[in-house]
Amino acid sequence: MLLLFRKNSPILTIIVIISGAVFLSYSLINSYITIWPQIYSVSTNKSISTLKVGPEYPPAFAYIISGTGGENKRIIRLLRSIYHPRNYYLLQLDAGSTEEERIELGKYVKNEPIFRNYGNVFVLGKANAVEWSGSSMVAATLHGAAVLLKLCKNWDWFINLSSFDYPLVTQDDLLDAFMSIPRDLNFIDHTSNLDWKEDARFDKILVDPSIYSRKNTKYFISTETRKTPNAFKLFTGSPWVILSRSFVEDCILGTDNLPRRLLMYFTNVVYSMEAYFQTVSCNLPDFMNKTINADLRFFLWGDPPGLDPLFLKGSNFDKMISSGAAFARRFVENEPVLDRLDKEILKRASGNFTYGKWLEHGDINSVASGPMGLKLRRLISGVIRQRSCV
Ligand SMILES: *[C@@H]1O[C@H](CO)[C@@H](O)[C@H](O)[C@H]1NC(C)=O
Ligand SMILES: *[C@@H]1O[C@H](CO)[C@@H](O)[C@H](O)[C@H]1NC(C)=O
Ligand SMILES: *[C@@H]1O[C@H](CO)[C@@H](O)[C@H](O)[C@H]1NC(C)=O
Ligand SMILES: *[C@@H]1O[C@H](CO)[C@@H](O)[C@H](O)[C@H]1NC(C)=O
Repeated sequence: MLLLFRKNSPILTIIVIISGAVFLSYSLINSYITIWPQIYSVSTNKSISTLKVGPEYPPAFAYIISGTGGENKRIIRLLRSIYHPRNYYLLQLDAGSTEEERIELGKYVKNEPIFRNYGNVFVLGKANAVEWSGSSMVAATLHGAAVLLKLCKNWDWFINLSSFDYPLVTQDDLLDAFMSIPRDLNFIDHTSNLDWKEDARFDKILVDPSIYSRKNTKYFISTETRKTPNAFKLFTGSPWVILSRSFVEDCILGTDNLPRRLLMYFTNVVYSMEAYFQTVSCNLPDFMNKTINADLRFFLWGDPPGLDPLFLKGSNFDKMISSGAAFARRFVENEPVLDRLDKEILKRASGNFTYGKWLEHGDINSVASGPMGLKLRRLISGVIRQRSCV
């Protein structure tokens, strides 16, 4: 197994690792599962012939759903609530999970005929160690984005979700709302007004041991401080982003060196996930005027605001719904308001998929948007008027 773990296949550690682990643990008892690493190449029936792409068709999203040990049920619920055959999904458990949990998630995906048929759900076999306040979080997000770039051709936007999130619109609503906007816009909530963060975050030097440890490990702060950079302008904002494919490509494959230099600078910044994509997109000439200052998420903050938003409950239902946002966070597991969202908004029977036109007619190239889609469309058409960084 160690051998397989070290063997860094050019095609991504992901599925290879699962296959390695799966091969060793299950091959004798359960040989069928060894075909699962090929899930993306062989069993894809997303009949490339029936999938139509282009500006006259709905776009496609590439999602990361990240979580940790003990969160498989939440991840699966979220996955089913945002599933659409056009999109891609990468399920990413961090190093707080066990290998068994990752295999279990892989088996779940493999055993769902719809996922097998469209071949658009992937599970990351190798876990990244992460620290919530550190740069290992950005590394994990970039890892997921790189995997999605490599495995999947036809997506337009990358969306970052955690198992604590839930949609407020159906995928038909979302696909429809994004259909007619330029596909190179980035939704990155940001500001250049650093305020107290200049001292508290950028002048401090953080060490994130999860970058070099196998297990999730707490950060520490150096006693030294450093000056605010002057080679680029800093921006900070919400870590919940919606990034265009061209921007993700530039972050990962681009020939401008800025994304890499910033990555190295941000290695030692506190809460770098709230500033990395903001600073890259607002300093790259190709993207600075394609940056929409919104994250399309619904949060409620305490007073004074804590590090995380409040847990949402039934009493917040109306506010959530009238926000027009695409996703809300955070929810406790099995929070009853999620059942209400399933029933009234997502038209999702327990355990089943969110309503989508594809479920009725098998047509994956057209969508039927509802009243929530209209609200989201209004919100988007308002925020996209301002496209330069602030
Ligand atoms: C998937 O593709 C295989 C082989 O092309 C075909 O036999 C099977 O019927 C397809 N399944 C569906 C649900 O379309
Ligand atoms: C992306 O998702 C993870 C996991 O939920 C989150 O913690 C992180 O802050 C997000 N944003 C970035 C830029 O990594
Ligand atoms: C971005 O927009 C601003 C104001 O609208 C303009 O002055 C600037 O030249 C633009 N930058 C690029 C790189 O297009
Ligand atoms: C799930 O949804 C599909 C399509 O709407 C339907 O045919 C099926 O009966 C549903 N399954 C359950 C268990 O509700």
